Amino acid sequence: MIAAVQTKEPVQKRLSMQIQAIAEDTTTLRSLDWDRDRFDIEFGLQNGTTYNSFIIRGEKTALIDTSHAKFRELYIDALKGEIDPSEIDYIVVSHTEPDHSGLIKDVLALAPDAVVVGAKVAIAFLEDLIHQPFERQIVKSGETLDLGNGHVLEFLNAPNLHWPDTIFTFDHKTSILYTCDAFGAHYCNEDTFDEDLEALSPDFHFYYECLMAPNARSVVSAMKRMDKLEGEIKTIATGHGPLLRRNVEELTGRYRKWSQQKSDAETLVAVFYVSDYGYSDRISQSIAKGISKTGVGVEMIDLRSADAQDVNEIVSRATGVIIGMPPSTGKGSEETRAALGTILAGVNSKKTFGLFESYGGDDEPIDPLQNKLQDLELKVAFSPIRVKDTPSEALYQLCEETGTDLGQQLEQSKKIKKIKALDADLQKALGRISSGLYIITAKKADVQSAMLASWITQASFEPLGFTVAVAKDRAIESLMQTGDRFVLNILEEGNHLPLMKHFLKRFPPGADRFAGVRTRPAYNGSPILADALAYLECEVTSRMELSDHWLVYCTVDDGKVAKDEAITAVHHRKVGNYY
Ligand SMILES: Cc1cc2nc3c(=O)[nH]c(=O)nc-3n(C[C@H](O)[C@H](O)[C@H](O)COP(=O)(O)O)c2cc1C
Repeated sequence: MIAAVQTKEPVQKRLSMQIQAIAEDTTTLRSLDWDRDRFDIEFGLQNGTTYNSFIIRGEKTALIDTSHAKFRELYIDALKGEIDPSEIDYIVVSHTEPDHSGLIKDVLALAPDAVVVGAKVAIAFLEDLIHQPFERQIVKSGETLDLGNGHVLEFLNAPNLHWPDTIFTFDHKTSILYTCDAFGAHYCNEDTFDEDLEALSPDFHFYYECLMAPNARSVVSAMKRMDKLEGEIKTIATGHGPLLRRNVEELTGRYRKWSQQKSDAETLVAVFYVSDYGYSDRISQSIAKGISKTGVGVEMIDLRSADAQDVNEIVSRATGVIIGMPPSTGKGSEETRAALGTILAGVNSKKTFGLFESYGGDDEPIDPLQNKLQDLELKVAFSPIRVKDTPSEALYQLCEETGTDLGQQLEQSKKIKKIKALDADLQKALGRISSGLYIITAKKADVQSAMLASWITQASFEPLGFTVAVAKDRAIESLMQTGDRFVLNILEEGNHLPLMKHFLKRFPPGADRFAGVRTRPAYNGSPILADALAYLECEVTSRMELSDHWLVYCTVDDGKVAKDEAITAVHHRKVGNYY
């Protein structure tokens, strides 16, 4: 019998440090966060994360990035164990997101003469973050910093990967490219390097989808800059997860392929937000993730740092424009107001728009902007998302589903054209493939979802397993990542129509799909439908990416049949270009 509540415990619930020499004069201080809350957007899986920092010792000493504030004592002790911090000459800030720059203030207290090196935007953000004077050096693409002993650091601009102020740093002596968020993964284990590609792959892809896909064009641009170093890069020192050494070509190749595909999308939605203001970052990421599930291209643009020409160019290309309300007063509000002006000047009645609140405490009011855009006769994609409290996971689910809805709206006519263009005979023949009828139900924390499915077939005896094909833009897809648990409810012939009808309803974003349906919780927490013929408790073991579906392989933990004599409802179709 299975335990009452099945949870997959992380390897160890703890914070620890790993200190490791990775090349000549180069040491990594990896903060291992085994138990990072999986409910941040990019933490779909359950493998914790790491925050990687690096010391390079030439004649001068440079520190690249720091760590999350939760590692304050552990990190500073580890740093002191390696060097006398007062000897740090440079602190290179790859970007200012707090999980990498959260301890810069602490390091500066120990190394007050250190020069902080970063992009212009990063230095401006840092002033807000640490509220104290510091020595600084603003660097641009192609500029170098010579640490001595051959350690010439060359900087590459990589804006929007995934913050607006990102730079990469290449050490010409060790051939290490420091990329911070790019090429990372939320994957915590003792391996400093990418020893196990198969184990790393699902996290690597999921992280890409959440953080990089909304900036696919920026990934392509950054990789063009990297091409200049072609053949030279031996190691990619990421800010999260294992450093890439064994699979550099394979994994950068994946980034290139995914980003090229996404930036080639014909339809584009621009999502304007303000990084590090209220919940703007994560709300916009959730919307962007939902849009990107439909195959529509997305570009996320920080209102504070984007220049007018870029804003203008993106608005003119975009079919949809989403705006997260920026702060109405204080530092940066002039820039954001100017950017809003540029957006308003660039939109026209052919565009679709949507607004959301950032919940930063001082948001520009939403209604005047909504009215202005409606006066300009833009189409409303969704009614404004108003955030009245600290966002819950359910709100983020609503945001993601809102994004998916918008993407589907924008792609609808293309989809219909495609279906019409298919060969009728072939479609009829394919339609003779038939299968059972099932409802998949899943619940994670306060997020739950369901869908009617028929593309299901048993796939293994030992362990007991089956596959289900889940369209990439299904709401429940986010709850079916590797390691996730769900219930497969098997419908009964003659008794299936009410459930089928219910779950085929068009649910608005964030709707409760179980309202009016009798359920009870399974051991794994997902709802079992009281009127199903049988159910299976399942875990996602692996996923294979296909053009428009994920083929999800699941193993079965437990199950029961309600009526021995009844049979499974079967779905007979007319054509193969629909379910
Ligand atoms: C008979 C039938 C079988 C279906 N089987 C599947 C399936 O196997 N996989 C899938 O992704 N969608 C399948 N669908 C589509 C979804 O169940 C349906 O579109 C649902 O409303 C999903 O809504 P959502 O995208 O908002 O989650 C099927 C639909 C029908 C009518």
